[in-house]
Amino acid sequence: MTLNPRNRKARDIELEVSEPATGRVEFPLIGTDRKRVEGLDVACIIPLLQACPGDETESLFACADRTRKGFVGDSVHIRGIIEFSNYCVRSCMYCGLRRDNRKLRRYRMTPDEILAASENGIRSGYRTIVLQSGEDPYYSASDIARIVEGIKAFGDVAVTLSVGERPRSEYATMKAAGADRFLLKHETADAELYRRLHPGASLETRIECLQNLKGLGFQVGSGFIIGLPGQDIATIARDITLLKELDVEMAGIGPFIPHPDTPLASYPAGDVTMTLKALAVARLALPHANLPVTTALSTLQKDGRQLALSCGGNVIMPNITPAKYRELYEIYPDSASLKDPEDGGIGEIAGMLKAVGRGVSATKGDTLPREKRPIPARDEASFQ
Ligand code: 5AD
Repeated sequence: MTLNPRNRKARDIELEVSEPATGRVEFPLIGTDRKRVEGLDVACIIPLLQACPGDETESLFACADRTRKGFVGDSVHIRGIIEFSNYCVRSCMYCGLRRDNRKLRRYRMTPDEILAASENGIRSGYRTIVLQSGEDPYYSASDIARIVEGIKAFGDVAVTLSVGERPRSEYATMKAAGADRFLLKHETADAELYRRLHPGASLETRIECLQNLKGLGFQVGSGFIIGLPGQDIATIARDITLLKELDVEMAGIGPFIPHPDTPLASYPAGDVTMTLKALAVARLALPHANLPVTTALSTLQKDGRQLALSCGGNVIMPNITPAKYRELYEIYPDSASLKDPEDGGIGEIAGMLKAVGRGVSATKGDTLPREKRPIPARDEASFQ
């Protein structure tokens, strides 16, 4: 299997799916189909993404829900996210934090502020703290390492980092300090589209970073955006197969939301149903993965959390950034996370989960290594 994106041009994908896509998957989904999706078949994924409104889509969602239940159970992992800097050296065409957006007032939290916010989160019941920022070299790897050590000293919690591309040696410093997980979305698996949307960057480097992180022992999360201008359904299928090839432990899939101060301001938002379908197929392809309900989805759809939880999702990541900084972390406008209570509102989430037959996980929510994963009983999984 090759991961070099240069070997996989959009045209190759089109060739792979040039046979009539429909009719290859029977709805309602039964075992063989799910097995084929798990087996990384782009041509099988496309008709799933094309499921018609009504019975077909419901069948896909139900299949993903059974798979989720069988492989990762009913508990939902709650991770508190702290957006500690909105400075960014990148100029991604879709993102409000892009360097060229001069309208945004920038902030950086001090290490003490980050530790205080983490401690508050842990006191409120969080067992994972996610530290996210724009790509901001102001914080050296050893700065981040010291913050990770500080958080780890508060108790038995996991730390997830989401700080962008860095050299392998810097990732190693962060890992040695105790960081458990790392999120770095591949954003789009189409190398040409990636190049156009991320000036000066490449999908190849992105994948190299993900492989470095994996090699260092991080639980790795990737993910992608639905509805980027220039994306088509074959790209989304390829996004999902790339997740599988990278063997990620986590994957965030969210819709594009236009930001007025970016070059993509006038493009339409991504489709909520397509986002849910991609999430559902990702669950079939990666049955053991931790799949969050993305904030972007909740921003476009009021009951986004509940919907995504019923289509394969098993993680919620409330914002626990101090209120004074939140509005400034404007990746896109009107983020649903602005409404999260400052303590992240675990109590309210627990109530919502109970109402939909789910519960808050009592564990840190690590993905088990392959050899330790239980094999779900046949009737618990989605084979029928
Ligand atoms: N719409 C949706 N998602 C976005 N991201 C950045 N900008 C946007 C946008 N306009 C996502 C990217 C990034 C994550 C932090 O936010 O996937 O990885």
